[in-house]
Amino acid sequence: MNEGALTLTADATILYANQCFAKMVKCPLERVTGSSLSRFLAAEDRVALQRFLKRTDRSGAKIQMPLNAADGSQMPAQISIRPIEKSGLDGATIGLVVTDITEVRRAEELLRALTHRVVQAQEGERARVARELHDNVTQLLCAVHFRSQALAGRLSARGGPMEREAIQLSKMLGDSAKEVERIARNLRPNALRHMGLVHVLRSSGAEFEHRTGVSFSMACEKMTTRLPTDTELALFRIFQEALQNVQKHAHAHHVVVCLRRLGAFAQLAINDDGVGFRLNRPPIARKGRRGLGLLDMRERAICVGGALQIKSIRSRGTKVEVRVPLA
Ligand SMILES: Nc1ncnc2c1ncn2[C@@H]1O[C@H](COP(=O)(O)OP(=O)(O)OP(=O)(O)O)[C@@H](O)[C@H]1O
Ligand SMILES: [Mg+2]
Repeated sequence: MNEGALTLTADATILYANQCFAKMVKCPLERVTGSSLSRFLAAEDRVALQRFLKRTDRSGAKIQMPLNAADGSQMPAQISIRPIEKSGLDGATIGLVVTDITEVRRAEELLRALTHRVVQAQEGERARVARELHDNVTQLLCAVHFRSQALAGRLSARGGPMEREAIQLSKMLGDSAKEVERIARNLRPNALRHMGLVHVLRSSGAEFEHRTGVSFSMACEKMTTRLPTDTELALFRIFQEALQNVQKHAHAHHVVVCLRRLGAFAQLAINDDGVGFRLNRPPIARKGRRGLGLLDMRERAICVGGALQIKSIRSRGTKVEVRVPLA
């Protein structure tokens, strides 16, 4: 068996342990038996273990915490509750299986590092496309727009359908230039660096309200210091994705955004009053494809040392809440 197996009394005294568990904690089996499981845990994890052990009714419940081995080394472990026979050892009330999750942790770290690099590459690519759009497409559209304006001016002497057509064309070109600029701005929010997060959230929110008809309001605590550049960008990307989800799925009337300071953290919350959804089983998105937005938001938060929480109630709305360290 590659897993540690234990039976405990209610106060976490080990009545039985297998050899595998003894190897995990690098302690002779005879010294493991009879001692408390707490002995192999850090002080802060002991309380969590006591609380966990009270859940004996819930067979299969799991908790993760490091085990402190006798030689001072640590091993990340998953501890799960297993049912035990009523006719088992005297006084044994809890059965546990302990799994070494060192490899799982290593794989998670690798995956996280890879995600971080993908996010960085994505931002680099977005910036490049935004530059191309701004330097080439917008400039070109503006030039054609001005010439079409000049043409409309010349045709004004004649009046009639040709002038109207030229004016219409000029307006369409102006609108196209603005739209390309908007896309470029969203791809690379330069204003974030120059004007700061609060300004960009407000102006993007106003633009969202104008474009979608969903009312947008923002309650914002004055931040005395700027957040790190990466953190501001992550919060802005989470905000963008949350608003996109509101537009695509929520059928909401109002969006309320709140940015505030909570001790050593900044918290951004995006609330909508839309249809909500079931969190543990988000519906399959368009064309049978599972969406990536929620996953991406979570990864963005983790990449800057933060955490993301989503609360959603059917017919009541959704709240996306992200907490990131200030420094
Ligand atoms: N604010 C919201 N209101 C209602 N449903 C939502 C909301 N946000 C997400 N959802 C639901 O959760 C699902 C997953 O969202 P997610 O952002 O991951 O994917 P998507 O928006 O469908 O696709 P993608 O973001 O990859 O373009 C959505 O398909 C939608 O059903
Ligand atoms: Mg989405």
